[in-house]
Amino acid sequence: MVILALLVSIVAGAISGPARKASHARIAGDEETELLKDSARSVAAFKEVYKVLMHPRCMNCHPAGDVPLQNDDSHLHAMLPRRGNGGHGVYAMKCANCHQPTNTPGLRTPPGNPKWALPPADMKMVFQNKNPRELALQIMDYKSNGHKNKAQLIEHARDTLVKWGWDPGEGRSLPPLNYQEFVAAWDTWINTGGYAPAR
Ligand code: HEC
Ligand code: HEC
Repeated sequence: MVILALLVSIVAGAISGPARKASHARIAGDEETELLKDSARSVAAFKEVYKVLMHPRCMNCHPAGDVPLQNDDSHLHAMLPRRGNGGHGVYAMKCANCHQPTNTPGLRTPPGNPKWALPPADMKMVFQNKNPRELALQIMDYKSNGHKNKAQLIEHARDTLVKWGWDPGEGRSLPPLNYQEFVAAWDTWINTGGYAPAR
C-alpha cells in the first residue's frame, strides 16, 4: 500500500511538473535537444523576445487586419495599402512602388528592404493583440509560422527583414533590446525547448 501510494505520487508529480506552468509547443525538426530542455529559462528568454516582437518596428508588419501599421503609435498606414494574397499589395498599390530595396533617406520617407511585404493572406502571422502565450505557440507551430522547422526558425532571426528593425531609417525608434541581445534571447528560447509562457 505504502509503495503504491508512493508510486502514485511520483507519477502525479511528473505529470503536474513544469508542464502546468509552461506548456511545451513541439518544434518541427527538434529531436536532438531533449536534454537541453529548461522551461524556466525558455519562458524567461521568450519574455525578452516578446518585447521586441510587439515593438512597432516589428508589429507594424504583423497587424491583425490586412493594412500595415505606421510609426510608433502603430496607426493604419496612410492610403490604406492592402495585404493582397502574397502580402505585396493589390493592383496599383504594390508595396514595392514606394518601398525600395533600401531605406529612402530623409524623414517620413518609405523604409526599404528587397522583401518589403506583409505575410501572405493564407498565413498572416499576426502579432498585434497577441499575448505572450498565444504568440509563442503561433511561432512554434509549423502550420502557422510559414512552415519553419527549428533550423529555419533559428535562421529567421538573421533574416534581413528582421535586421531592418535595427536600421529602420531616420526618425524611427529602435526595439528595446539591441540586435545581439535579441538574437541571444531568440536562440535561448528555441534551444531550451521553445516553451510558451502560461499566459
Ligand atoms: C504610396 C506609397 C506607399 C505604398 C504603396 C506602401 N507604402 Fe508603406 N510607407 C510609405 C511611406 C511614405 C512610409 C513612411 C511613413 C512615415 O514614416 O511617416 C511607409 C511606412 C510603412 C511602414 C511603417 C514602418 C514603421 O516601422 O513605422 C510599414 C510597416 C509599411 N509602410 C508597410 C507597407 C506595406 C506592407 C505595403 C504594401 C502592402 C506598403 N507599405 C505600401 C509609403 C507607401
Ligand atoms: C516589412 C514588413 C516586415 C517587418 C518590418 C518585419 N517583418 Fe517579420 N515577417 C514579415 C513577412 C513577410 C514574414 C513572412 C515571411 C517569412 O516567413 O519569411 C514575416 C515573418 C516573421 C516571423 C515568423 C512569424 C510567425 O508567426 O511564426 C517572425 C518571428 C518575424 N517575422 C519576426 C519579425 C521581427 C522580430 C521583426 C522586427 C525586428 C519583424 N519580423 C519585422 C514581414 C515583416
